[in-house]
Amino acid sequence: MAQKTFYVTTPIYYVNDVPHIGHAYTTIAADVLARYRRLVGDEVYFLTGTDEHGQKVERAARERGESPQSLADRVMARFKELWDRLQISHDDFIRTTEPRHKAAVAAFFQKIYDNGDIYLGDYEGWYCTPCETFLTEMQLVEGKCPDCGRPTERVKEPSLFFRMSRYQEPLLRHIEAHEEFIQPVSRRNEILSFVQGGLRDLSISRTSFRWGIPAPGFDGHVIYVWVDALTNYVSALGYPGGEAFQRFWPAGVHLVGKDILRFHTVYWPTMLMAAGLPLPKKVFAHGWWTVEGRKMSKSLQNVVEPHRLIDRYGADALRYFLLREVSFGLDGDFSHQALIQRINSDLANDLGNLFSRSLAMLQRYFQGRVPTPDPSSAGYGGELRRRGIGLREEVEADLEELAFHRALTRIWELINAANKYIDEMAPWKLAKRPERAGELSAVLYNLAETLRVVALLVAPFMPQTAEEMWQQLGQEGSIWDQRLDLRREWGQLQPGVQTRPGKQLFPRIEKEQADEITEQIRANLPEEKGSMITLQEFKKAELRAAKVLSAEPIPRSNKLLKLRVSLGTEERTVVAGIAASYPPEEMVGKTIIIVANLEPAKLMGIESQGMVLAADGVARLALATFAEEVKPGTPIR
Ligand code: MSP
Repeated sequence: MAQKTFYVTTPIYYVNDVPHIGHAYTTIAADVLARYRRLVGDEVYFLTGTDEHGQKVERAARERGESPQSLADRVMARFKELWDRLQISHDDFIRTTEPRHKAAVAAFFQKIYDNGDIYLGDYEGWYCTPCETFLTEMQLVEGKCPDCGRPTERVKEPSLFFRMSRYQEPLLRHIEAHEEFIQPVSRRNEILSFVQGGLRDLSISRTSFRWGIPAPGFDGHVIYVWVDALTNYVSALGYPGGEAFQRFWPAGVHLVGKDILRFHTVYWPTMLMAAGLPLPKKVFAHGWWTVEGRKMSKSLQNVVEPHRLIDRYGADALRYFLLREVSFGLDGDFSHQALIQRINSDLANDLGNLFSRSLAMLQRYFQGRVPTPDPSSAGYGGELRRRGIGLREEVEADLEELAFHRALTRIWELINAANKYIDEMAPWKLAKRPERAGELSAVLYNLAETLRVVALLVAPFMPQTAEEMWQQLGQEGSIWDQRLDLRREWGQLQPGVQTRPGKQLFPRIEKEQADEITEQIRANLPEEKGSMITLQEFKKAELRAAKVLSAEPIPRSNKLLKLRVSLGTEERTVVAGIAASYPPEEMVGKTIIIVANLEPAKLMGIESQGMVLAADGVARLALATFAEEVKPGTPIR
């Protein structure tokens, strides 16, 4: 039988932003699919890359005082570096500034032109640069972009148009006839009604800026960045003539975020139709991540900076969390607490313990050698065998639907069944009864076999962990040389194999460590304007009246004063940033308000044991004081 081919893609990432977990998410998901399909023996082409043209990139470069190409070179390298650390196994990385891409875009454009679907006109309307989208007056919401809410720009320039309107009916028919084309189904409905609402011709060139691919035959016209970018999916395969193109097109699945679904399910398919090419089999739109309950922003990106997450938790734990925590089509929230919870319970406890317990028992009762199971013994195979046999097909069906979390849940059901099996079979008791030696062999064989199957099934999700399991289980070669075999997945473990117990798969994150991380994260979260706190939270702050005993300027600082204050029963040193508004002598004798339980902090070498409250935002700071005489130390509520 000919080998099946499978082509999976991620969006190509804009180089005006550095890689964050949103990008990592799509790429990890694509990697899981690619690795799975390679394991079952398919021939896989996994493509990712960078989107380097367009006004947005050009502007970002200008703001940094560098050329767009040098910005692209720098940021592209950061994407590649992160993919390495995340164990991404892409077969190709396309950059839209590469000659192979430019040539393919020109050819693609020419093909559509020759088909009579490109004409010259004038574009008059609005443009959202952050989204790189043309908008009509009607689409604007209070003058702003309906998608990102940012200001738009008036554009009036000669432009080439793509006769997209011509493909409204064919596209509708295609979507209706291919239920699996747009997923999840809620998104499919969204697109269906959008297309039913009518397709206009699409402006596909710009004349007012230069950072892009020239439109062949139209001097001064640069191809619209989305047309340029979408074409990456065929340019990387060597369109039009490439051998890989013949083999791998159409794509098995384009993975995209929900924000760019329309480009992939309306613009791209109609362009493909115009170029006479088959459409991708599936476009799947995943949800968006918020971070610690908030919309991801530049400042929040620090809190979930992927390299720091990998340093702290490891790439596999991060990969597992992102795909297990939320269903792929839905939005989710990334919080360190939730991640730690998953690591401790699913990874360290369920999987890690099963693995180390089982290997330890093999060591104890069989000198680490996988025993020969006795098929006639009570409990032979049983529940584990039954689950193990069906699992591979179920996981495959889940992955077909991009239901990563469901696949993982199923695998964990086997893991937990195995943990329960240990408790029920109590091998330590069997070991004391020579007449039950056959059962003991069967139980330990079944556990080892379960672990082998689990290693293979988790491999696409956690490649390093799976390889570690493979080695400790004493298996030959690398797990990546294995083929998952649909008919024979249970019972392939060879008796007599010497296992090699080694390092723990996932150390638990202890409470103190977890608290420390949570605290650090909280301290680093940018201030959230206008959000609510509970009374409980407010009460954590200990505010007290304090009488200023002495005040002195701090050398080399024109903002800070060093205050000595009395809280009645005790004295404190407090450093306050009020020097520009209050000369030291004016401070002495005043009764002010301090936060008394703030963690001490060193400012200009002086430890400050509290913080002074003052009104900010006026020309001068204004200290908070009292309308009546108050004794030092009085609590404030
Ligand atoms: N360059 C275009 C894609 C062209 S594909 C032919 C682009 N790039 S992007 O870098 O802005 O976004 C790439 C992907 O990252 C999108 O799929 C987007 O949905 C995803 N994400 C960006 N922020 C995200 C989250 N906060 N959460 C999940 N995914 C997010 O668009």
